[in-house]
This record gives sequence, C-alpha cells and structure tokens, in this order.
Amino acid sequence: MQRRARRPADADDRSATALVRGFRHAAVCEQTGMLAAEAAALAATWPPDQEVEVLSQVNGAVSRMGARYYFGPDAAALTHAEAELARLRTELTHRYLHLPSWMPSPSRTRVYRCHRRLAGRIRAVIDRRLDEGRQEQDLLAAAMHAAQEDDTRPGDRIAYGLATLMVAAQDMPTRASGWIMMELAREPEWADRIAAEAMSLPEDPAKIDAGHLARLRLTDAFVRETLRLHPPTWLVSRTITAPAELGGYQLVPGDHLLLSPYLLHHDRRYFTEPDTFRPERWLRRETADHNPAYLPFGAGPRMCRGAALASTELILITAMMARHHRLRAPATAPYQQDAEGALTPSGLRLTCRRRD
Ligand code: HEM
Repeated sequence: MQRRARRPADADDRSATALVRGFRHAAVCEQTGMLAAEAAALAATWPPDQEVEVLSQVNGAVSRMGARYYFGPDAAALTHAEAELARLRTELTHRYLHLPSWMPSPSRTRVYRCHRRLAGRIRAVIDRRLDEGRQEQDLLAAAMHAAQEDDTRPGDRIAYGLATLMVAAQDMPTRASGWIMMELAREPEWADRIAAEAMSLPEDPAKIDAGHLARLRLTDAFVRETLRLHPPTWLVSRTITAPAELGGYQLVPGDHLLLSPYLLHHDRRYFTEPDTFRPERWLRRETADHNPAYLPFGAGPRMCRGAALASTELILITAMMARHHRLRAPATAPYQQDAEGALTPSGLRLTCRRRD
C-alpha cells in the first residue's frame, strides 16, 4: 500500500502541538507555586461566618489560575474575559431545541461573536509581545515560540484555541471544586486529616513545589474520591466512523455511542460500596492507577487535555481550604444536583469558620 506523504507542519500545527505539550504533568509541576498562591488567596479571602454561594467564589480563583497559566504577566488583561463566553455556551447546551452545528441561530451567533471578541483580546496580547520582543515562560509563549520557528507570525488559530481553553480551564474545575467543598463540609473528620496534612506545606505558598504536592496523599485520595462520586463530565459521546462490534452490538458509521463515567463509577463490579464516600480506597497506589472504570477525565485520544492542571488545582484548593477553614452545610438542602450539561452542585451554599 502506498503511503501518503505527510504534509509539513505549518505554524498553526506547531503551536497546537506546543499547547498540548504545555498541559503535560511536567509543565504543570513548574507552575505549582503560582497555582498554590491562587489557592491560598482563595482561602484567605473567603468570607468567614456567613453563608456563601460557593461556585461563584471558586470560579474567580480557577479563572485566575487558568489565565495566569496561559498568559503569565499578561493575565490581568484577560482574567474573567471568558466569563461571558462560558455563560453563552452553557445557555446554548441548555436549549431544548438542538439545531445541526452548521445552522446559524441567534444564540449561536452570540457565541461566535463573543468568541471572536475574546480571541481579539488575546491577539492584542500576542501583538504586544511581538512588538516588545518580550519572551515569557507561559503557555502562550510556548505556542508563539513554536509558530515562529520559521519566522512565521503566529496565526489567529492560537488566539481562537486559547479562548476555548480559557473557558475549559474555568468551567469543569469550578464544578469539581463545588463538589469538593461540599464533601469537606459533609466529612469533618476527613477535613481535619487533610488540614493536618496541609500543615506540612511551606507557609509561603509560592514556595510550594511538585515535591510537596506529591506528599499530600490524603488530599489526593479525597479529590479522586470526590471525582468518582460526582464526575462533572458524567456522559461522553462518540460518533462511530467505521463498522465495529461492541458487547454483541453491531455498530455502523453514524451511530452514536454514549458512555457514562457516572454509571461506571457507581457500578459495584468496579468499586466496592460504590455509593459510599471512601477516599481510603485510593490510598493503595495500584488501585489508584489501574482501575480502568475510573474515568473522570475520559480516556484515549480525546482524554481531557487539562487533567494534570485540573488535578493540581483541585488538590491545592482542597488543601488550602481545609487548612484554614471548617466548612459547614446549612440544615436544609444546600444545593440542587444539576445534570444538564455537566454534573453540578447548583446554588451550593456553605458556611466557613476559620480554624486559626
Ligand atoms: C475537574 C476538571 C475537569 C474535568 C472533570 C474534565 C473532564 C473532561 C473529560 C471527561 C473530557 C473528555 C470528553 C470526551 O471524551 O468526549 C475532557 C476533554 C477536554 N478537556 Fe477537560 N476536564 C476538566 C478540566 C479541564 C481543564 C482545566 C482544561 C483546560 C485546558 C480542560 C480541557 C479539555 C479539553 C481541551 C478537552 C477536549 C480534548 C479533545 O477532545 O481532544 N479540561 N475533559
């Protein structure tokens, strides 16, 4: 069989590859201090002794973490700029009538326009860096550097791609942090253990590195268990592109396959006492790394690009909140489980009391 000659990578391809590399575990490790400082700021500014709407409080922090990860010193110019785009996109997924993706509609046009505006602001940051000849150490710098290997000016695709990634960086981690806060409130003994573990971290969050993080085994187990019991992405779908047989079913191109991490995570064939919150199940390393039914970030070629970044953020937020606060849920239902789009503790309200 004759092989098709591979097209040489153009500037956009190279920057897209750099973006993928920029989310690897090793790249995230280098930013641990910055992420820890944002998590510590979230804990330090949490309003004490009053009921607080959790998701909006957390959203600000994860939005800043994402913006600083991507744009370093230029983050301030872009932080929260994705909020409007995230809102419009959520509204679009909540519509009862789903038109084919090529069909224009007023709500879709609003999303496109908003995406273009955000990409324009990112483009302005790129142009400013080029004019100033400035080299930074962030994700944007890596993507720009890859694009410029053959002196090509970075294309608009970087700006569009980063606009999408800005939304991704604040959406799921916000929902996941909501579930974590709720479990910290429900499980005070675990919260105390995590607080004790977090005392081993340096007082100055900027000095926290990947080595410190690797020692937070209880916190890591708590986060994993929360994502098992409440996986924000509770359903993923694929369109079949080639005939296949699966579980005795014949699948043909065009068929849609739905896979639910939520159902797998609650299946007793894969997890003992699946409906019980038991972080200790993750303390044995082999269980943590080898359960194929554990899919909070999906699997395979379409697996979550931001898994390493999200895990680091969630561990730091959990450690910092538990270290400084005791969370309490009000007597009446503190939230409504919303499964439209992603699994979310909508309207979650909690009270915080400082430990120190
Ligand atoms: C707790 C937080 C997060 C959860 C639970 C989560 C979950 C997931 C899951 C399950 C998928 C796979 C969907 C599928 O198979 O169809 C996915 C894809 C993706 N995620 Fe995340 N995610 C999180 C955070 C993030 C962050 C912080 C980013 C930031 C970049 C991100 C970027 C993406 C992207 C770009 C994809 C699409 C990958 C592709 O199709 O090639 N996610 N995420």
